[in-house]
Amino acid sequence: MFEGLINSLYIIASIFFILSLGGLSHQTSAVRGNILGILGMILAVCGTIAAKAVDSIGIIVAMMAVGGVFGIIVSMRVQMTAMPQLVAILHSLVGLAAVFVGFANYIEPLHEYVGVEKVVHEVEIFVGVLIGAITFTGSVAAFGKLQGLISSRPLMLPARHWLNLIIAIVCIWLGAEFLGSSDHQTGVTVLLIMTLLAFVLGLHLVLAIGGADMPVVISMLNSYSGWAAAATGFMLENDLLILVGALVGSSGAILSYIMCRAMNRHFVSVILGGFGTTGGTAVGSIEGSISEINVDEVAGLLSSSDSVVIVPGYGLAVAHAQHPVAELTRKLQDSGKQVRFAIHPVAGRMPGHMNVLLAEAKVPYDIVEEMDEINPDMPATDIVMVIGANDIVNPSAQDTPDSPIAGMPVIEVWKAKHTIVLKRSMASGYAGVDNPLFYKGNNRMFFGDAKDSLDKLVSMVG
Ligand code: TAP
Repeated sequence: MFEGLINSLYIIASIFFILSLGGLSHQTSAVRGNILGILGMILAVCGTIAAKAVDSIGIIVAMMAVGGVFGIIVSMRVQMTAMPQLVAILHSLVGLAAVFVGFANYIEPLHEYVGVEKVVHEVEIFVGVLIGAITFTGSVAAFGKLQGLISSRPLMLPARHWLNLIIAIVCIWLGAEFLGSSDHQTGVTVLLIMTLLAFVLGLHLVLAIGGADMPVVISMLNSYSGWAAAATGFMLENDLLILVGALVGSSGAILSYIMCRAMNRHFVSVILGGFGTTGGTAVGSIEGSISEINVDEVAGLLSSSDSVVIVPGYGLAVAHAQHPVAELTRKLQDSGKQVRFAIHPVAGRMPGHMNVLLAEAKVPYDIVEEMDEINPDMPATDIVMVIGANDIVNPSAQDTPDSPIAGMPVIEVWKAKHTIVLKRSMASGYAGVDNPLFYKGNNRMFFGDAKDSLDKLVSMVG
């Protein structure tokens, strides 16, 4: 009867988690999805405590209080622009937890396992610790790159793919030794050696990936952390953890695949640490000169335009310019102009970054369009305002084969009649490459902090 109640709680929590994922797939239902996820997690925690799957409720409550306070402080302090780093470091904790649970479970199993059951249990432990260790150091490396603590350029060790292959083969051999170990002491030693090797592999896989592929790495680590959680669920014989881990693992893998397609990267080459990529070089010296424009001239150009497309990028987030851009949009619409936003799948620093900012500033969803929808309309557009974006509007992705961003789909703003780029300097974007767009004859540079520039523009328009 009691067990039935716990199972029912777990089933309801699972349904909440599935509905939560469904809700998070669209801006309009994202808040509901978030709430359903929170409710699912509350039920999951209550069910686990009620099932007496924990020895000491006191320790659990104390740990939850510490973690909860820490979580609230971090979530209140973290800048929107630093969200990917936060996600990366949280993934590292899931990986580390899987490593600890694996060791604890091996040293002190829940039951006495024999025969096939023992083999299956030890495979679960080995695989769980392996994925957990790779996730841990991989996520720490991703955090370091995103936080700017280490260079975002790919680390190109000589024979790096051989190094990965050798570590993978040694880990498989260690797995066989682990399953065949006659005593616990040997088993722990083998597990420890494999963990250290997996730490090196996780670190090396992510360090070999270049800055422009970081979004894929983050969602891939999200997937790894899901599989690590699922493996932990097997070790702890917790069905809900297996299910949630599988949901996170598979949704992260699907998102990684979609992002790889959006950036024209090969999924397998990215997860193998940039296999098949050469790292590329920055585009060479760009011919031509830039033309600046001032706020009066921008206002004049806007007033003589009928169709306006705004391309927001990372700089919009840094400058907190979403509110003035929403205000400018309202004013332009009031004066009868067609205004639309063009969103690149990897604009900013995390999936959906621009959509979140625009939604916060109450920009209507129906004027926010995806890159593929708006690209065909570019030649008929009077003016494109590129606000704090760089890599996502870089034509060298299409016409410079040795560029590090070659092949990445971009918003083809240069095909519009005029483009205006709002940024502070000629500095490059995340991928560290120059942008020939700035030198094109139909482009003008409007230098300054995006928020300051837009504030001035708003006061002059309408
Ligand atoms: P970026 O290429 O990084 O360019 C942003 C530009 O904003 C910079 O050139 C910078 O130039 C400008 N900027 C910064 N602060 C500003 C401010 N206060 N006011 C005005 N401009 C400002 O951004 P993007 O075009 O959005 O492309 C995103 C890049 O990030 C891609 O390479 C993508 O692969 C990578 N990435 C994306 C994600 C996800 S999931 N979205 C995650 C990690 C990495 P100045 O310094 O001259 O102002």
